[in-house]
Amino acid sequence: MSHGLFITFEGIDGAGKTTHLATLAERLRHQGREVTVTREPGGTPLAETLRECLLHTPMDTLTEALLMFAARRDHLRLVIEPALAAGQVVLCDRFTDATFAYQGHGRGFDLGVLQTLEGWVQTMDGGLRQPDLTLWFDVPPDIAASRLSRARAPDKFESESCAFFERVAAGYAQRAAQAPERFVRIDAHVPRDQVWHQVEAACRQRGWLS
Ligand code: TMP
Repeated sequence: MSHGLFITFEGIDGAGKTTHLATLAERLRHQGREVTVTREPGGTPLAETLRECLLHTPMDTLTEALLMFAARRDHLRLVIEPALAAGQVVLCDRFTDATFAYQGHGRGFDLGVLQTLEGWVQTMDGGLRQPDLTLWFDVPPDIAASRLSRARAPDKFESESCAFFERVAAGYAQRAAQAPERFVRIDAHVPRDQVWHQVEAACRQRGWLS
C-alpha cells in the first residue's frame, strides 16, 4: 500500500510506552528517516477536540466507540496516509487495538461491531490499513496503577478499576494472539533500559534500525 512504515505503541495506561516512542523517533531521525509522531485519539484538530470529550465526558460505550473511530478516520486521512505515502515512518501512540482492548474487552462492547467499524474506517484506496508493527507494552495492571497514582490527575479511563485494566490487558493478549506476525510483546515490567533494548531488538530484526 505504501513505502512508509506504520508502527503503533499499545498497552494499558501506565505501561510506559510513550518515552520509548520518543526514543525510537530520535534514533530513526538520526539515521536519516523522516518520522511523524502522533497519537490516538488525536493527531488532527478535529480528533484532538474529540479526544477532550472522550477523556473527560461521560458517554455510553457505543458513542465512545463511534467517536474513537471518527477521530481515527480523520487522523488516517489527514496525517497517517499522507505520511506513509511520502515514505515516512509513522509512530502512533495507540491505534485500533486500543479500541478492541478498552471498548471491547474493558467495557464489554460487541467485538463484531468493532470489526465492522474497523473495516469501514481503515479501508483506504489500497486496502485495509493496519500497522506494520505493533509494540505491545505488557505490564501487570497493579504495577501500572501504582505508576499512574504518582502521575497527574487521572482522566476518565485512568480512573477505571483494576478489574477493568485486567480485562483490557486480556484484550491486548487476545489481539496479539490473533495477529502474531504484527505484534511484538515487550515485557514492560523491567528497568527502563531493558524495555528499550526490546524495542530496539524488534526494529533491528526487521532491518529498520542499524
Ligand atoms: P493515552 O493516555 O495513552 O494518550 O490514551 C488515551 C486514553 O484513551 C487511554 O486511557 C486509552 C483510551 N483509548 C480507548 O479507550 N480507545 C481507543 O481506541 C484509544 C485510541 C484510546
